Amino acid sequence: MTRPASRGLPAPCPPASHAPLSPVRRALLGGGLLACAIPAAASSGMRVLRLSHVVAPNTPKGQALEHFAQLVERYSQGRIRVQIYPQSTLYGDADEVQALQFGAVHFIAPSLSKFGRMGLPEFELFDLPYAFDSLEQVRRVMDGVPGQLLLERLQRNGVHGLGYLHNGFKHMSAQHALLTPNDYLGLRMRIQPSRVLADQMQALGASPVALSFGETYPALQRKVVDGTENTASNFWTQKLQRVQSDLSLTGHGYLGYAVVTQQRFWENLPNNERALLDQAMRDALQWGNTLALEHERSSLQALRGTTALRVHTPGAAQTQALRRALLPVRQQLAQRIGSVWMDLLTEALHS
Ligand code: LMR
Repeated sequence: MTRPASRGLPAPCPPASHAPLSPVRRALLGGGLLACAIPAAASSGMRVLRLSHVVAPNTPKGQALEHFAQLVERYSQGRIRVQIYPQSTLYGDADEVQALQFGAVHFIAPSLSKFGRMGLPEFELFDLPYAFDSLEQVRRVMDGVPGQLLLERLQRNGVHGLGYLHNGFKHMSAQHALLTPNDYLGLRMRIQPSRVLADQMQALGASPVALSFGETYPALQRKVVDGTENTASNFWTQKLQRVQSDLSLTGHGYLGYAVVTQQRFWENLPNNERALLDQAMRDALQWGNTLALEHERSSLQALRGTTALRVHTPGAAQTQALRRALLPVRQQLAQRIGSVWMDLLTEALHS
């Protein structure tokens, strides 16, 4: 992964991307705004910061980050503004980390499953199937030793971790019910780019296909993939019910985020502004982390009300069979990152 430009030098222009440019990004490039490092201070003296993410505004992440923007405006009495680009309109999964490192955007909030490809596979602890029974257990791991060590590790990539944010638990979808391991045989399943998620699908007899979030709907629509996993709120807000006929409420895995900024930008901020942004982010994440369960409830209710979608709930024996089939995934991760991380996970879960 490319290191950011050295201190004092202007950050270089983002490299040309082969991905189609989003309308906003095209407009910005056309206007020369992204031609080089983005000045955080506008000529009026007001600081404008950019925040990019890939999901819809009416999701736990979308709302928490919007709340952050509001708090920043309030705490700074209008001197600092956070401009939010949702739904991959500025950067998508493929280029947002690089955009952050080049200083083209100030904050991003990738899912924890997307940090493995930054050379930090320990983040994939959060992807382990059936590792958490509740969001309270996830919180213990985030607030505990493993969660805090992981945030520190981001610095190896010139990135500063500001905190964690929940989405919720993922379910499986396809064109038939996915309740036992046999149901997955031969399916091509879209996953986020995580080795643990790839191992998970393979353990169930499916072929994992890593695609960015923005590519998921069209890939399902064109039948490039047969199914996927995601939370109810992502499923509903991306309208995946239009391209999938069956949703199985497996709740097998967790989806959450780390909100991050560029370390060099963060360290170079005046102390009072850094403290203000830090406080606004803490408050926004605390508020945002109370939203996940309500989003899960309302999105599931909306999905259940969709006549074209069949919603299934696995029975206890079916869940047991899925859990058994997925046991090797834990061992595979332990071999890659070291069993000490598994011990840290277990300790934090029972703390
Ligand atoms: C996904 O790619 O499915 C999720 O990471 C999207 C998100 O940010 O919730």
